Amino acid sequence: MKTLFTGQNCIYLNVTDSTNSYAITLLRESKLVEGTVVYTFHQQKGRGQRGNTWESEPNKNGAFSYVLYPVFLQVEEQFLLNKMAALAVADLLAEFLADTDKMQEIKIKWPNDVYVGTQKIAGILIENTLRERTIQHSVIGIGINVNQLVFAKSLNATSLALLANKEFVPEQVLEKLSIYLEARYLQLKNNIKSLDGAYLQRLYRLNMWAKYNVSGVATEAKITGVTDSGKLEAEFQSGETKEFDLKEIMFL
Ligand code: BTN
Repeated sequence: MKTLFTGQNCIYLNVTDSTNSYAITLLRESKLVEGTVVYTFHQQKGRGQRGNTWESEPNKNGAFSYVLYPVFLQVEEQFLLNKMAALAVADLLAEFLADTDKMQEIKIKWPNDVYVGTQKIAGILIENTLRERTIQHSVIGIGINVNQLVFAKSLNATSLALLANKEFVPEQVLEKLSIYLEARYLQLKNNIKSLDGAYLQRLYRLNMWAKYNVSGVATEAKITGVTDSGKLEAEFQSGETKEFDLKEIMFL
């Protein structure tokens, strides 16, 4: 593994319920070296954001959970980890899809879903354990659709294989993901503002009028940015702007 610490300590599981849950259980019992990754290609009860599940056909896709100790971040800066992880996944996709015409379509749908065009290819679930004002440890859970070719329509999902018309080696996804995650993490550690520009550049629907469900009402709005604490900023046709938490706005 061509990294300094991410993926240097690998815990491979033939099958597991959730790599995030597994990593969190291990962290309760012992301290894991920073960059440890728990991974599987057969995750049976993957967990997603907003209490959702993350579905994956056995042995087709990758489920990765990295353990990090971002002690340089304050609790109110934890959204930066979402930016960091989403950008690392976007970097990885840019490399794997370099031979396709999809490069420009790799987007981060706030807060940290990764899309190609209008379809989801990766999901991220970050679980932080806080101690007073700092983050004691962070489990960065990343699910990437690699070789799955058929998805339930309701999932609106795609995979690397569908987009590139070829099979990928899942272990290579682990290797590249570890490299890009480390690079973005070190960039963040070096300068916590340095990810903002790249994140905005990749932000799905930035400066575009589109439909959202806001408090149960379908409304036209335009995403204008994301605040430091991770709230979505949107403008309405009245000219008014508002900030939203995850549960307050839904993309339509
Ligand atoms: C989402 O789209 O809502 C986030 C999905 C996150 C899935 C990953 S797969 C690896 C890690 N383990 C889990 O149980 N969830 C995350």
